[in-house]
Amino acid sequence: MTHKVSIIGAGMTGSTSAHWLAEREIADIVLVDIVEGMPQGKALDMQEAMPIIGKDVSIVGSNDYTATEGSDIIIITAGLPRKPGMSRDDLLSTNAEIVGKAAAETLKYSPNAFYIILTNPLDTMAYLTLKKNGLPRNRVIGQAGILDSARMRAFVAMETGVSVENINCYVLGGHGDEMVPLTRHSNIAGVPLNEYIPAEKLDAIVARTRKGGGEIVSLLKTGSAFYAPAAACAQMAEAILKDKKLIVPAAAYMEGEYGLHDIFFGVPVMLGADGLEKIIEYSLNEDEKAALAKSAAAVQETHEALKNLVEF
Ligand code: NAI
Ligand code: 2OP
Repeated sequence: MTHKVSIIGAGMTGSTSAHWLAEREIADIVLVDIVEGMPQGKALDMQEAMPIIGKDVSIVGSNDYTATEGSDIIIITAGLPRKPGMSRDDLLSTNAEIVGKAAAETLKYSPNAFYIILTNPLDTMAYLTLKKNGLPRNRVIGQAGILDSARMRAFVAMETGVSVENINCYVLGGHGDEMVPLTRHSNIAGVPLNEYIPAEKLDAIVARTRKGGGEIVSLLKTGSAFYAPAAACAQMAEAILKDKKLIVPAAAYMEGEYGLHDIFFGVPVMLGADGLEKIIEYSLNEDEKAALAKSAAAVQETHEALKNLVEF
């Protein structure tokens, strides 16, 4: 393979990202974790699956960052996941230390890599990665919006029986309970959602989307979602490596778009060979603007908490 993707954190989301990426056959993969033997074991097991699925991908596991040398993309999933009763923000101080180290170490070996951040609290971990390392904003993108939008798409498909391929949903804002499912911009094969689904059912879908992460946490009890978040990471990596110019919701560093500055926030972005190539600005009504402002205030609060912990 000509491309290389390193995934830091070989737990549930990290190893599942490797799995989805290997299926796409777009890059060789390195899994790094602090647990001895675990990334090596998972990588070898996955490597042994390649003849069965017919993909010529090299998958290596390591406890050492040197293995990540020359990566095109670094996906950071290292850190603690949520347990029942925990918010994503409860993870702040522990995960800031883990993500800070993962970003600094990988940058030494891959000075030109693009970063896809998954670790929670997502928007703030992406902010930390960009600010602490002085990276340009096209190189640090947080994964949240593809997942949140996919959850909404899945719920709409379950309600209507229409193919997921016909369902387009856009969830913007921070990756928290104040996220903003934009029903007016979402549609089924071009038909606005509110013309297809009765209001009270649509309200229920919006509410379920906002709590989508928590719903999985309370079912699993020992961790959080991993299949869908990992599929989202793989889609983002593919969009960059194949220069697809794919427009998806993702967390981006805001420089005035949507009236926001110096904050990571979920907005529609274009992903291509230069990473985050463009932020798309939707025209919003007053209610939508107010909902996004509320979500931005919640993200800003976590950014401020980070600034009390870490010096930039
Ligand atoms: P997990 O516990 O299964 O895996 C995390 C891995 O990180 C573990 O294997 C652990 O050993 C490793 N790790 C810890 N410290 C490390 C270090 N210093 N260097 C390298 N590896 C280290 O957790 P899971 O389910 O994979 O979740 C990971 C993170 O992703 C959590 O913070 C979770 O909240 C977040 N997440 C975010 C989503 C999003 O949409 N943004 C969706 C799902 C999870
Ligand atoms: C999720 O939304 C926990 O952030 C993770 O599933």
